[in-house]
Amino acid sequence: MIESRKEDHIDICLKEDVESNKDFWSDIKFYHQSAPEIDLDDINLNVDFLEKRLNAPIIISGMTGGYDGAEKLNRRLAKVAEKMRVGLGVGSQRPALEDKKLRDSYELISEHSIPLVLGNIGAPQLISQAQEEPFGVAEAKKALEMIQGDYLAVHFNYLQEAVQPEGDMKARGVTKALKRISAEVPTIAKETGAGVSPVAAMRFRDAGVSAIDVGGMGGTSFSAVEHYRIEDENKNMKEIAENLWDWGIPTPASLVKCRGSVSLPLIATGGIRNGVQIAKALALGADVVGIAGGMLPRVNKGKKPAIEYIKRLKKELKITMFLLGCEELDDLLDVNRVMIGELKEWIE
Ligand SMILES: Cc1cc2nc3c(=O)[nH]c(=O)nc-3n(C[C@H](O)[C@H](O)[C@H](O)COP(=O)(O)O)c2cc1C
Repeated sequence: MIESRKEDHIDICLKEDVESNKDFWSDIKFYHQSAPEIDLDDINLNVDFLEKRLNAPIIISGMTGGYDGAEKLNRRLAKVAEKMRVGLGVGSQRPALEDKKLRDSYELISEHSIPLVLGNIGAPQLISQAQEEPFGVAEAKKALEMIQGDYLAVHFNYLQEAVQPEGDMKARGVTKALKRISAEVPTIAKETGAGVSPVAAMRFRDAGVSAIDVGGMGGTSFSAVEHYRIEDENKNMKEIAENLWDWGIPTPASLVKCRGSVSLPLIATGGIRNGVQIAKALALGADVVGIAGGMLPRVNKGKKPAIEYIKRLKKELKITMFLLGCEELDDLLDVNRVMIGELKEWIE
């Protein structure tokens, strides 16, 4: 993410329709269980993920930090994650690494007792781009210290960079740079909406990451966000960004393919908006899900709507599990399901 434009990104995501054109989660169907033989109240949503106990398999994905308004949003998000005992990621910490004055909106996270906190830096910043010095192990450590974080999410957002007039387009050596950092700091490789292929997953595994966030297509489209941000005069770039609106591997397809290629813990982010979709992601092998676009408008209104949203997600997940006869999250791996339509073709 290009951090000086963070505020633009938040504004655009709040005002415009930036969702991908298709919800691929709807191409997964479950076989209903008429006689579940369990009680809904006995269903357990607790999960141990990366050695942390979460009260639900949910991480609020990294979105913001580093500008004035970000403090209010991150404070609310921290309170929500603390109360609901779910994971929380911050947005790219690049601004705070480049300018100490911009640290406040990140540092406040450490004042809260959140079960899993993820830092965030961009993979393109790990290698030399134009005139800039790349971030190394020292910056990675600083980023985690700043928020008392548990893992550093390194985001791979080359789709977004490619459709920005001023994007960072150098990627040669990026996996090596990730490996150098992962040797010293616990990392998660994170896509931001274009999905992780099996080859990329194996590269991330070989670089020593602790987990992968498959960040697939089907939810927030960063090509769409950039399309809205590009000036009207720059007609070519605006059209390019529009044409790549739905670029990428759908989240469930990326999940299935990554699950088949690496045995690392997986986060399914990209288009998760309700609890039925969470159940589908877990049934396909995700350990937890990540949610950004569904959370932003709620937390923008206040802490309460954000908490109510997580309560609803948990309730929907529980009802789905009840109707499938699953008492534990792991039981979802064994339920009968079918893939239809485009997703089926992706997976075959
Ligand atoms: C407003 C906004 C800002 C984001 N900023 C970041 C960021 O700084 N770093 C990052 O890794 N991902 C960032 N993301 C991507 C999300 O973490 C997530 O991967 C993506 O939005 C797909 O999930 P969704 O469909 O639930 O929105 C951002 C998303 C949104 C909506």
